[in-house]
Amino acid sequence: MSIVFDRERQTLTLHTAGSSYQMQIGPLGVLLHLYYGPRCEGCFDYLYLPRDRGFSPNPHERTEGRGFSLDNLPQEYSGSNCGDFRLPSLRLHTDRGVTGAELRYLRHEIRPGKYSLEGLPCAWDRGGEAETLSVTLRDEASGLEVELLYGVFEALDVITRAVRITNRGGQTVTLEAAASACLDLPFGRWDCLHFPGRHAFERQTQRCALPDGITAFSSTRGMSGHQHNPFVLLCDRDATEDAGACYGLMLAYSGNHETFLERDQTGSLRAVTGIGTQNFSWQLRPGEHFETPEALLCFSAQGLTPLSQRYHRFLRQNVCRGFWAGRRRPVLLNSWEAAYFDFDEASILRLAREAKALGAELLVLDDGWFGHRQDDRSSLGDWFANPAKLPRGLGPLVEGVRKEGLLFGIWLEPEGVSEDSELYRAHPDWALRVPGRLPALSRDQLVLDLSRKEVTDYLYEMISALLREHAISYVKWDMNRGLADLYSAALPPERQGELAHRYMLGLYALLDRLTREFPEVLFEGCAGGGGRFDAGMLAYCPQIWASDNSEAVSRLAIQEGTSYGYPASALGAHVSACPNHQTGRSVPLGTRAVVAMAGTFGYELDPARLTEAEKAEIREQIARFRDYDELVRTGDHYRLRSTGESACALWAFVAADKSAALLSFVLPAPEANAPAVHVRLKGLASDGVYRLARADFFGCLLEPQPLSRTRFTGAELMCGGLTLPALYGDAPSAQLLFIRDDA
Ligand code: DGJ
Repeated sequence: MSIVFDRERQTLTLHTAGSSYQMQIGPLGVLLHLYYGPRCEGCFDYLYLPRDRGFSPNPHERTEGRGFSLDNLPQEYSGSNCGDFRLPSLRLHTDRGVTGAELRYLRHEIRPGKYSLEGLPCAWDRGGEAETLSVTLRDEASGLEVELLYGVFEALDVITRAVRITNRGGQTVTLEAAASACLDLPFGRWDCLHFPGRHAFERQTQRCALPDGITAFSSTRGMSGHQHNPFVLLCDRDATEDAGACYGLMLAYSGNHETFLERDQTGSLRAVTGIGTQNFSWQLRPGEHFETPEALLCFSAQGLTPLSQRYHRFLRQNVCRGFWAGRRRPVLLNSWEAAYFDFDEASILRLAREAKALGAELLVLDDGWFGHRQDDRSSLGDWFANPAKLPRGLGPLVEGVRKEGLLFGIWLEPEGVSEDSELYRAHPDWALRVPGRLPALSRDQLVLDLSRKEVTDYLYEMISALLREHAISYVKWDMNRGLADLYSAALPPERQGELAHRYMLGLYALLDRLTREFPEVLFEGCAGGGGRFDAGMLAYCPQIWASDNSEAVSRLAIQEGTSYGYPASALGAHVSACPNHQTGRSVPLGTRAVVAMAGTFGYELDPARLTEAEKAEIREQIARFRDYDELVRTGDHYRLRSTGESACALWAFVAADKSAALLSFVLPAPEANAPAVHVRLKGLASDGVYRLARADFFGCLLEPQPLSRTRFTGAELMCGGLTLPALYGDAPSAQLLFIRDDA
């Protein structure tokens, strides 16, 4: 049993392989949070000593002293306007002017399997993996019932949370905030790791000591965004990759989000994470309910690496779904950086031929193939072949590519619409815009109102017809602007605050319909690169283009930041042309491939501009990746040297059964007479014997003998480590494959 109710002590305890999580139905039915930490038995109510703190109110019914205050006690889901002045999880008002919520226990239920959410992506139980705890609280004044849902994946070491809020009273209630999870950590000093960035510079790793007061990370852009990922980590001040307590809070949501972290007057930390509340409101008439997005919680007592690995496994197995989730993905060549808008049928067929000759398996026709699109100013919405580029239509091109022996993939941006398009001329009210105000343009485009059923139905018909008519194996689902001018012509004034979330529900419903109807089509998520890189999109798209910055050295930090929460199997990464189109930097082809092999691996260049030697190198890269693919996609990922802290990046993938390890190393800027680079491997079998099965160096070796030995015990590689040969040149790199020989 992973969920235990102790009737006598009134505790509910959730156990996973490495963690325990405890709550208690406390005095007056306040649902107290007692513990989240290493797995153990016990009851932790003794930790919270009654204390009369000045200016911390006491519930009125509490007669035996002033020691009990909502303002001081850790809680499972905080109310508002009720004597807890810290971060609320729930804010509301009713049509009679009641504001806030005071939540008291009503009932609970433990059931097998995992709860599900209506219309929202959430983790799934593949069979007997999860148990559900539902605890219902009630706010008397508004009549709301608040059902806290916990999905306990014991073996996978993850607890999911979501909240279902039902109006059981007679008033109309307007939700102003409804968090997915609240986590109180009453003791300790915590650092926070978060992943800020911008377009083409996503998910940089930042670690900061949490100050007193409130720290916030959010998106108000209608998408999870390039700027702040819906994922934060809390860890001990001295936590490292291998030691210290760490907590992860990840939202399976792709729209506006916010995570607030409050270190209060007593040093207690409260984390509240959920849907973004700026411009958010949700009206519940009597009988109606609302469900929050899901939060994925994980704890590690042994540092950041196990925490990341748990998320990787969980996202791969229990969030990504469908045909492609666990399969090897085709190595693709994408036309974007090869041709941008400048192509025709003949040039794409030529690209396909050359891609095939290099060993690629999928040709992706990116932006520009539709309407009369010659640049990014027109035609979004007109998803029919561009007569100037493809006068014979899409059919002959798709067939031509397939005759070359490649799968065919296509780019779509279904959520966008250009003012210069037939779709916009026919349905101007389908675009988001505030009456009486000109809408903000971004990349010269507007956004379709996906909260409207007729809009998502139209998109479904259009895309499904395209997929039925043509042998399309892959769709790159792009989205190139944020949501401004939030107003829906289809919503009454009092429901306009629901629009951003209704938009997401519309998007998820559309993706759900399409991925169910076309399970064998591989959908890759994209939003101007990694603007919507989150667990919500991963439920439909098992891979996401990580960044519009395809330059390998910049990618090191982007991919490393991403790796804290997301698996390599989800990370779209390509080798692109040189000098790079985003930074102008020239990184050797070998190093570009080493970096792209930490993701789904593909190409984004025109083979016609390559020398014969480069083509030969690419053929070898693709063959090598086929050998490494399984290890990268399913292995345990280790960050061995961080780009932020040192002059080089080192990482490894180790097979789950410890039978192989792939060590990758990049030295962005070699120094003269530099100290040797030394690394200790991790995750191997100590007593195993590992053979260096393959060593590739990209750049120049200073010593003629790269490594003096080729057989090592796991203990040697993990305790003594490995001294890497000195490399010089522009951004040199190395890839070493170790295979266990003794098993
Ligand atoms: C943004 C994407 O991230 C790029 O890869 C490319 O598809 C462009 N959009 C096309 O407009």
